[in-house]
Amino acid sequence: MKILVIGSGGREHALVWKIAQSKLADNIFCAPGNGGISKLAECIDIKAEDIQGLLDFVRKEKIDLTVVGPEASLACGIVDEFFNYKLRIFGPNKKAAQLEASKVFAKELMAKYAVPTADFKIFDNAEEAERYVEKIALPCVIKADGLAQGKGVIIAKTADEAKQAVNSIMQERIFGEAGNKIIIEDCLEGQEASILVLTDSKSVVPLASSQDHKRIFDNDQGPNTGGMGAYSPAPVVTQELFKEILHKVVHRTIDGLSKDGIDYRGVLYAGIMITKDGPKVLEFNVRFGDPETQAILPRLKSDIVEVMLAATDKKLSRFKTLDWDGRSCVCVVCASGGYPGNYKNGKEISGLEETDKMQDVVVFHAGTKKPPTPNFQLPTRYFTNGGRVLGVTGLGDTIKKAIDKTYQAVEKINFEGMQYRKDIGYKAISR
Ligand code: AMP
Ligand code: GLY
Repeated sequence: MKILVIGSGGREHALVWKIAQSKLADNIFCAPGNGGISKLAECIDIKAEDIQGLLDFVRKEKIDLTVVGPEASLACGIVDEFFNYKLRIFGPNKKAAQLEASKVFAKELMAKYAVPTADFKIFDNAEEAERYVEKIALPCVIKADGLAQGKGVIIAKTADEAKQAVNSIMQERIFGEAGNKIIIEDCLEGQEASILVLTDSKSVVPLASSQDHKRIFDNDQGPNTGGMGAYSPAPVVTQELFKEILHKVVHRTIDGLSKDGIDYRGVLYAGIMITKDGPKVLEFNVRFGDPETQAILPRLKSDIVEVMLAATDKKLSRFKTLDWDGRSCVCVVCASGGYPGNYKNGKEISGLEETDKMQDVVVFHAGTKKPPTPNFQLPTRYFTNGGRVLGVTGLGDTIKKAIDKTYQAVEKINFEGMQYRKDIGYKAISR
């Protein structure tokens, strides 16, 4: 089969890497891809949001399966567009993608179908929202309705902070149209976990649990990022909790969508807070997590293409469970100096030939680039080209061993300004 993966991050590198192991994959393409991906797939210079360009490419190349990485392409309706031409594409359609693209849509669905989540109120008027925060318990959480590249959530400790958040989202429009409506919700306490499942809108096949590390600095300090590391499995998600989440969150959501006439196919990602009152949904994503995917897929033994095809073709009931490597997996993100603020690209990365030789280590590229005219006599040179540069991933019999392995690899890598968290996975040990 010819398979196209859309996107250019560490998640897409992990997807391409896993797809490359499938007996069904003959040729893999990635649009637009990155330096590391180009080792496994032919990178095509088409942007992830260029739906027409992607459609033209897929029709011309006779691609058999397209796998969508980022949410923006799904929210623009790439799946609906491909379905019109009877092309196989893995991911939810535009209506289903609202689960991530509109937090108001997600919250209303959760309320309607009794999916546990923080209590909330929706506003489309800034003055009303500002009056409301005067009289509620604090801290509270203010969320822009639409997509805001993971930055649309503000935790406010005081009424003034809350008003400021309302003002910047609804009046100053820092997230543009995404701020037409906001949600103000209770602040939940507990540990977070990510539960990802594959679904064809009827059957559900869970992936292994994982935990992300969103803040830039150790001990969850500093501003939020796209994710600085992850590990799988997440021991905070006991078997019992996993069952409860599947029942109360995943099935209720997918069945609820179905009842409302929305067919959800692809990956459903539930960001969960494990509170003292049980698991509650923080957010839904309609795609694989980044960097969770980099920690989950190295543990997956089943053929990912087979399951993706089954989800796309509504034949997922053939799979009850997937086969997993029982070891733990840790992914540490190496980021550019200054990220998540401003940073410089173009720094040469060293140490990758050494990590290539390590067993049970894979380095997924996120923001990297190769020089346009490589010298084939010499080892490939890679340069930084983004905030999150690499996702260094290691497996171990225990979480401790996986952590040690991963950091051994991280220490071999360097580029000017490189920063990474030193505490990825430690929450799992301290349990
Ligand atoms: P979201 O974009 O909705 O996933 O939110 C991003 C991050 O904000 C989550 O991963 C949590 O760390 C935090 N967050 C979101 N909603 C809440 C909430 N209700 N209570 C506490 N933290 C939250
Ligand atoms: N790891 C968080 C996300 O993918 O949205």
